[in-house]
Amino acid sequence: MKARAASPSPLLAELESAREFLFSILPPEEFWLEQPSPSYSPIGWHLGHIAAMQERWLLPGEPSRYGSTFDPVATPKNGRVRLPIARELRAYLDEVLVRVCDGLRAGRMPGVLGLPEMFLVQHIAQHELQHAEHVQVVHALCERRLHRMAPAGAMHAADRLEFRGGRVQVGSDDAARAYDNERPQHVVELKPYWLDPAPVTVGQFAEYLAATKAPAPLGFAEQPPEAPVTCVSWHDADGYARWRGARLPTEHELEAARLPPCGVWEWTSSWLTPYPGFRPYPYEGYSKPWFGTHRVLRGASWATSPDLVRPSLRNWYLPEFRELPSGFRCAGAF
Ligand code: AVJ
Ligand code: FE
Repeated sequence: MKARAASPSPLLAELESAREFLFSILPPEEFWLEQPSPSYSPIGWHLGHIAAMQERWLLPGEPSRYGSTFDPVATPKNGRVRLPIARELRAYLDEVLVRVCDGLRAGRMPGVLGLPEMFLVQHIAQHELQHAEHVQVVHALCERRLHRMAPAGAMHAADRLEFRGGRVQVGSDDAARAYDNERPQHVVELKPYWLDPAPVTVGQFAEYLAATKAPAPLGFAEQPPEAPVTCVSWHDADGYARWRGARLPTEHELEAARLPPCGVWEWTSSWLTPYPGFRPYPYEGYSKPWFGTHRVLRGASWATSPDLVRPSLRNWYLPEFRELPSGFRCAGAF
């Protein structure tokens, strides 16, 4: 940490706008302690975790109010049910943000060695937005509507999209914003490929289920036929693509295509792996524990803040996981 006469206002604005997004999607307090799925912590835990991470990274050296209750490593998911009441969680969120902003105004800017000084604040603002997505997903699971949330597509192009491939730059060189797993930016070689113009719909997926008796995605019977099929596992997506004589796109084929997000995260054929020259930050375990075991999803969902969306952003889950706003499109060679 160094004291300096910084201009903190753009950084305060990042933190404040992340909080504004969180409050704009915040479910009523009656949902905060519910745990509709063992795969997710209750909303109240996510809220406490948002404040605790802000406290840990932006108020270094100050003791954490709730010890390790909101530390995902120290407190596993089944231990996240004894939580402070809603009023206390709200006060904790408010109070930590006020202290952080006071600190920034006073020129206290915690940093990470080797990264631009804005990195940590922006990282913590993005972290809040990512948990705001989880909060919406948990709320939707509480109300049994996660599988009905994928918005019917605005893209009705009939033709497949064709790409020349070649040498393309992937990842990000934006050291102030990008996550460790997006760096370093580097060149990959792509063969010519095509992509579906839009994610596979419920109607299309139904033909595959009828033809093969493959397992149905979560809540499939209640998904509207025109919408992108959602709550699909990687195996569901891969199975459909093979059945159609196609395949899933690689993460870099999707990244290079620069498509607008279509309301669902899109599964890719890629495992989450480190880019050449990967260096973990801001802590060893931000991305590393998931390398080689989790598949990459690209794009963004209906629950993702637009402030998080960028072409190089990587999301990841276990291939069997389907309690998420996931979808997919097919790809192939030509
Ligand atoms: C990238 C969404 C898989 O929520 O586990 C949040 C993001 N990392 N806090 C997750 C994350 C630490 C991560 N995902
Ligand atoms: Fe987190």
